[in-house]
Amino acid sequence: MAVLKPQAAPEPTAAQAEAEADRLTAKGLADMGWRDEELLRAARLTWKINHLKRATKSILPAHVYQRAEILLGVADLVGDSYKLAKLCAESDARRIVFCGVRFMAETAKILNPEKEVLLPAPEAGCSLSESITAADVRALRRKHPGAPVAAYINTSAAVKAEVDVIVTSANAPKILRKLFETSPKVIFVPDKMMGRNLAQELGKTLGAELVVWDGSCLVHDNFDAASVDFYRKMYPGVKILAHFECSPGLVSVVDYIGGTGDMMDWVAGHKAPSYMLITECGLGDLARSRFPDKTFVPMCRLCPHMKAVDLSRILRALERPFASQRVEVPAALRERARRPIERMFELAEDRASS
Ligand code: 13P
Ligand code: SF4
Repeated sequence: MAVLKPQAAPEPTAAQAEAEADRLTAKGLADMGWRDEELLRAARLTWKINHLKRATKSILPAHVYQRAEILLGVADLVGDSYKLAKLCAESDARRIVFCGVRFMAETAKILNPEKEVLLPAPEAGCSLSESITAADVRALRRKHPGAPVAAYINTSAAVKAEVDVIVTSANAPKILRKLFETSPKVIFVPDKMMGRNLAQELGKTLGAELVVWDGSCLVHDNFDAASVDFYRKMYPGVKILAHFECSPGLVSVVDYIGGTGDMMDWVAGHKAPSYMLITECGLGDLARSRFPDKTFVPMCRLCPHMKAVDLSRILRALERPFASQRVEVPAALRERARRPIERMFELAEDRASS
């Protein structure tokens, strides 16, 4: 794998920085409350990042939970976990600077072993990914022999290497339905909330037909179902959308449940007086900028892992990455982890099943 030489970005002139601040304003940052001096400070960084990106043929995929200045100022690809994995697999860039968390950057590396993959915030983990190990998956297999294992993409490369298929929030029901066609029992790891929601949606008995692990997302685990009623009274006609990782209690009282990509599509296709997106706050920022004519009622929580990425750390990764920002997955592990991801692509794109 070719590692690019360190390269410092030039400083923008005053006029270039002003023009860049105007661009960020037009993208919607000023409407989000950014003051002029904050915009100018961010503009100097986004200008340098965009300059270096072009000079080094790097791409910046960004998950929708990233900070607004990243999504609107420097990202080349913005999307949910599925879309980003797919786009990274198809990209011909020389280098991928992944604005997201470790399991996402590892997935990009597994799919692009010949490219340099950088993670600006090396410590950016995920409570779901950290809830399970490869040894846990092997123990589940011994306990439920013959049952196929589906893992949420929010898992480490070592866990991916042990499972039969990867799923994301955009395709989990479809892929699990497929697995149930040939097996009476399926194991799903690591999100217990999503597992319970899947059991409900597919009409399967939790524990007997669908075996789930005990992990949960620190952002989605704690939203309160009781408050939904209060918000419905306060905002008549509001449409409430929740992420698949929320609790079944909450999911049962909202208007729509899905992954972040599905939530955005649902909003695009509906006309309601207002919308509430129960998920990480980044999605609300993106929704406000994509749908300026729609009203969004705030109800979100920040993911500290996603928010660990910022413009300075992206610039550092592009100019002269720390060794810890470089994502490596050993070749033998990579090969084993790649198979279940490719299986996901096949099953998710299979038009014969819905
Ligand atoms: P999606 O964007 O795929 O719905 O995933 C949500 C998430 O929590 C990623 O960390
Ligand atoms: Fe993990 Fe939850 Fe953060 Fe997504 S939002 S990275 S699932 S902790």
